[in-house]
Amino acid sequence: MPAHFPSTATDYRALAARRLPRFLFDYVDGGAGDEHTLAANLDDFAALRLRQRVLRNVDGIDTRAVIVGEDCALPLALAPIGLAGMMARRGEAQAARVAEAAGVPFTLSTVGICPLAEVQAARRTPFWFQLYMLRDRGVVAALLDEAWAADCRTLVFTVDLPLPGLRHRDVRNGLEARGAAGALLRLRQVLARPRWLREVALGGKPLKFGCLAQQVPNASNLDAFKAWVDTQFDPSVTWQDIEWLRARWKGRLLLKGILDVEDARSAVQVGADGIVVSNHGGRQQDPVASSISMLPSIAAAVGERTEVLLDGGVRSGSDIFKALALGARGVLIGRPWVWALAGAGSDGLRDYLGMLRRELYLAMTFAGVTRIADINPDSLHFDPLHSDSLHGGSP
Ligand code: FNR
Repeated sequence: MPAHFPSTATDYRALAARRLPRFLFDYVDGGAGDEHTLAANLDDFAALRLRQRVLRNVDGIDTRAVIVGEDCALPLALAPIGLAGMMARRGEAQAARVAEAAGVPFTLSTVGICPLAEVQAARRTPFWFQLYMLRDRGVVAALLDEAWAADCRTLVFTVDLPLPGLRHRDVRNGLEARGAAGALLRLRQVLARPRWLREVALGGKPLKFGCLAQQVPNASNLDAFKAWVDTQFDPSVTWQDIEWLRARWKGRLLLKGILDVEDARSAVQVGADGIVVSNHGGRQQDPVASSISMLPSIAAAVGERTEVLLDGGVRSGSDIFKALALGARGVLIGRPWVWALAGAGSDGLRDYLGMLRRELYLAMTFAGVTRIADINPDSLHFDPLHSDSLHGGSP
């Protein structure tokens, strides 16, 4: 039974399950393959323990941080989520507005429902834009120009999607079935969620890909979208394409989807301003390492030369603390923001972001640190995942 007054990401997930048609809930919730990586992203966070320190004068704790040159109320950003506008009415615009009020960056996905202009109109301050490499470089160049014109100055360029991952829940829900059978199954699931039908499917029109309206005009048809992704996402991308991108994009460039030390070094060489250590929330390859388990070695290799962010499995303020202790400058959250928005609307997302800040504040309090910059490996106990990367704490 979902909580009446939701408090955690798990509570919002339960509310989202009640409101969303099954195939949409599973699209957000699921991962690739056997979902081992999806589970490891969470389990490896849960395995870490904070040191409790006392009598250190923790009056006046400050959770503020600068990430990618921006002042934030806490070191957190909303990750790009494709189709968010299918989960809540004009989902990207709503989330962008709530994020601004909470003082954290919002990232609009290439395959978001709301166009750049709509998100821009929802806020007073700039937001981040996420892009995939498409075969048609003319489209990529045009999107970069559009994002710049919409005041986006941080580009999150996702590099871990040469092909979409194989997500069995989507197969089971008929998202890959050609013809009427899949559509019929989805229709039954939609009819079981009349509130979603009213508020989002009808009340949230147009359900098109805002940034790609010209390329995929029939975007509410998932089969047409999938066909477009299959032909347009470019598996031939290399670091040379990133050089091309770097030369073209005048703003800050984050490469998202780095999970290997060598790739992190290449990202620095090619001139990225930062990286997001990420396995796409366990949605691409399974099994690969959890992102938190790769963070210490990547941060040790490139953390002095570039800004290291992380996503995958961050659900609470103490998770944010743990990622910072292992070398991240900040984190992104994906599923949790969609669950909160889909399950409890913009108030739900506001409350969830407020709860993350409160939990981070408490984690700092009990670790005896008052500034974000003072969080370090000593704030954690012996780390069973990466014992050699940590010092301090007891085994
Ligand atoms: C994503 N993610 C993603 N990433 C990206 O660069 N562009 C995109 O369009 C999407 N779309 C998307 C849809 C859905 C439903 C999910 C769950 C994820 C990945 C996302 O940005 C982020 O890397 C992960 O969600 C982080 O993991 P958590 O926080 O969900 O555990």
